[in-house]
Amino acid sequence: MPAYAPAMAHSKAKPKAVFRCRSCGGVQFKWMGKCPDCGTWDALEEEQSSKGASRDRQKGLVEGWHSGPDAATAESPQALPIPDIPAEIDDSTRLRCGLSELDRVLGGGLVAGSAVLVGGEPGIGKSTLMLQLAGGLARAASRVLYVSSEESAQQVRLRAERLAVDNLKNLLVLADTNLNRIVEQARKALPDALVIDSIQMVYRGDMDSPPGTITQLRRCASDLVYLAKASGIAVVMVGHVTKDGQLAGPRLLEHVVDAVVSFEGDRTHAHRVVRATKNRFGTTLEVGLFEMTGTGLQERDAGLLIEARGDPRPGSVICPVMTGTRAMMVELQALTATGFLGAAKRKASGIDASRLAMLVAILEQHAGLRLADRDLFASAVGGVRVTEPAADLALLLAIAGAERRKSIGPTTCALAEVGLGGEIRATTHLEQRLREAARRGFTRAIIAREPDGKPPKLDIQNIELVPTREVAHALEELT
Ligand code: TYD
Ligand code: MG
Repeated sequence: MPAYAPAMAHSKAKPKAVFRCRSCGGVQFKWMGKCPDCGTWDALEEEQSSKGASRDRQKGLVEGWHSGPDAATAESPQALPIPDIPAEIDDSTRLRCGLSELDRVLGGGLVAGSAVLVGGEPGIGKSTLMLQLAGGLARAASRVLYVSSEESAQQVRLRAERLAVDNLKNLLVLADTNLNRIVEQARKALPDALVIDSIQMVYRGDMDSPPGTITQLRRCASDLVYLAKASGIAVVMVGHVTKDGQLAGPRLLEHVVDAVVSFEGDRTHAHRVVRATKNRFGTTLEVGLFEMTGTGLQERDAGLLIEARGDPRPGSVICPVMTGTRAMMVELQALTATGFLGAAKRKASGIDASRLAMLVAILEQHAGLRLADRDLFASAVGGVRVTEPAADLALLLAIAGAERRKSIGPTTCALAEVGLGGEIRATTHLEQRLREAARRGFTRAIIAREPDGKPPKLDIQNIELVPTREVAHALEELT
């Protein structure tokens, strides 16, 4: 009997269809209108299950990076004691793109051999950011292959001219959507970084599912991650997010990549925020700020978020918030309006809703404010998300100020946590926050009183400290 006979006999078995969720990747054995795992409607998609074959096929695509079958054995991983493992990610090996706001979010630059997923709504500026990243890397003498799967090479050229990254020998542009051809070009060009804009449009011709399906997306993304690991190229993939902020399909992609960076902002406003929601090579606390201008994204100092302040405004209080390693002045705003008892609205944007509810309860209990029949809107200005308890006092003053039509001085800021008993508590990083406030021209800071009643020992000039002990005491600052 020929050697292939058993395999043939095996292949006669009818492949069983399974249904995979486009959003969470969960597998069901029959079609359903709603995914039982994640609750998304109309997301199950038929997929042929092919056991075993996929691993080898994935390997086949990029195995040419290591020449010959023996090389693979030499390169296969060995178990080592930790001190013998080369410390590959020392900061000097990171590829810096020159956009320091983005580099910081990435943990100091792109790591060779890593895969990064950049998510954002359509039209927010992902392609602009990616081309600037590619340009910055090329300027710093790295080789970059920028693959546009959505725009033609001419369109990329026009954009590159606008962004002044059109004159770089190290920046190669390819307009293609076929993954095999893309990998082939990467093999030829041997870049340090490969940008794929966007992963949703890339497909493998040897797969049954049509381009754009979840099966294609998953497969192409994991191939590219494999490529990154095998070749040492830093791969950056762009992914669209749906309206509700989910990366389309790619909760699965989030697992396979090393870092997920989300690019957020209101399309009608100029400023944009970059943050890492997952990062194997750095913190996820850092935030990068950009502004969209006629000539691309400009890095912005955190000061942007509080500019244009003149007279004191009721319902607006500024707090130095820690984002990662730096302090940033963030304006917290509140507005109250007539509502209905039992159906009063509580809307928070950029602020934790349960924290807001807690502050409302504290104001009712400890400051005699009646808010049960008042609609309340609160937000952190500039698209930043404030989750720190240190912003409690500022938010509380904003709400009370909005309700009583009173304000604190335009150069006064507030930073303290508020306890359920109405007591005001000290925050972490007090000195760093106050330094930032002083640097930004603030002259007074409402803080928590030290337990011994003495002023905190800090070496900061030009800022008057106003220690407070209780909510009622702090509210006296509103005039
Ligand atoms: P784009 O990067 O194409 O968004 P995405 O890739 O996320 O879909 O750009 C989005 C918008 O940015 C586009 O409508 C035009 C605007 N824009 C500028 O304002 N200035 C610029 O220099 C560029 C290149 C784009
Ligand atoms: Mg785009």
